Amino acid sequence: MISLSDLRQFKADGRKFSCLTCYDASMAKAMEIAEIDSILIGDSLGMSIQGRDSTLPVTVEDMAYHTAAVRRGNQHAFIMTDLPFMSYATLNDALQSSKTVMQAGAQMVKMEGGAWLAETVEVLTRNGIPVCVHLGLTPQSVHVFGGYKLQARTREAADKLIADCQAVVDAGAALLLLECVPAQLGQEISALFPHIPVIGIGAGADTDGQVLVVQDMLGLTFGRVAKFVRNFMKEQSGETAILDAFKAYHAAVQDGSFPAREQTFQVEL
Ligand code: KIV
Repeated sequence: MISLSDLRQFKADGRKFSCLTCYDASMAKAMEIAEIDSILIGDSLGMSIQGRDSTLPVTVEDMAYHTAAVRRGNQHAFIMTDLPFMSYATLNDALQSSKTVMQAGAQMVKMEGGAWLAETVEVLTRNGIPVCVHLGLTPQSVHVFGGYKLQARTREAADKLIADCQAVVDAGAALLLLECVPAQLGQEISALFPHIPVIGIGAGADTDGQVLVVQDMLGLTFGRVAKFVRNFMKEQSGETAILDAFKAYHAAVQDGSFPAREQTFQVEL
């Protein structure tokens, strides 16, 4: 089973790692066969599994249920689980929510935010819970952003995001996830923290790992699809098409062909 130390070693070795969201045991098994390095049980399940229009209604119990299912199906990948909306608003909430998802099988929790999470990160880490902080476009704050938009488009905003990263890393964050930011910023942040693996989604080709929502990369998202998504199913056929799409994704992340320039945001900072 891949551990956090393995992800750190991948970064040290310059070996890019693949991550996909997953919510059930059979997809998790297919990802195990395809040797996907890490799995995120994302609160995107609110949309992709529950049919809601945002991640806000998702509960800690939902996250634990899907985490346990994925862990039963996959003994290979590093597993991290989202703490859903308002489940880490206080230190006690964060501890209780993390306890629930870690006992369900997560190896790490993920929280959306910035410097304001520093104390929470420190307390969780002290209690043996590794933390990933998700920065940039953070979907739980969609109503603050007023939509799903590119973040940190100016030098000033990029520097503020770097300061947020620094604060949570100083507090003990073991992994960073950057969503929907200029490729240049993804590169800068990945280079700034040599011991902290950085996963990107719409953050350019230079982050240490890449993540996509599984329904997006299988072409199962109907309606608007983000610029940073590539449909890996299009290139497959036959009864092993899903498995082959996962294998193609893993290979494309490792050889650096995903994301290509057209899946990244090129903004000069
Ligand atoms: O919930 C999720 O799927 C996520 C990804 C978009 C990174 O947080």
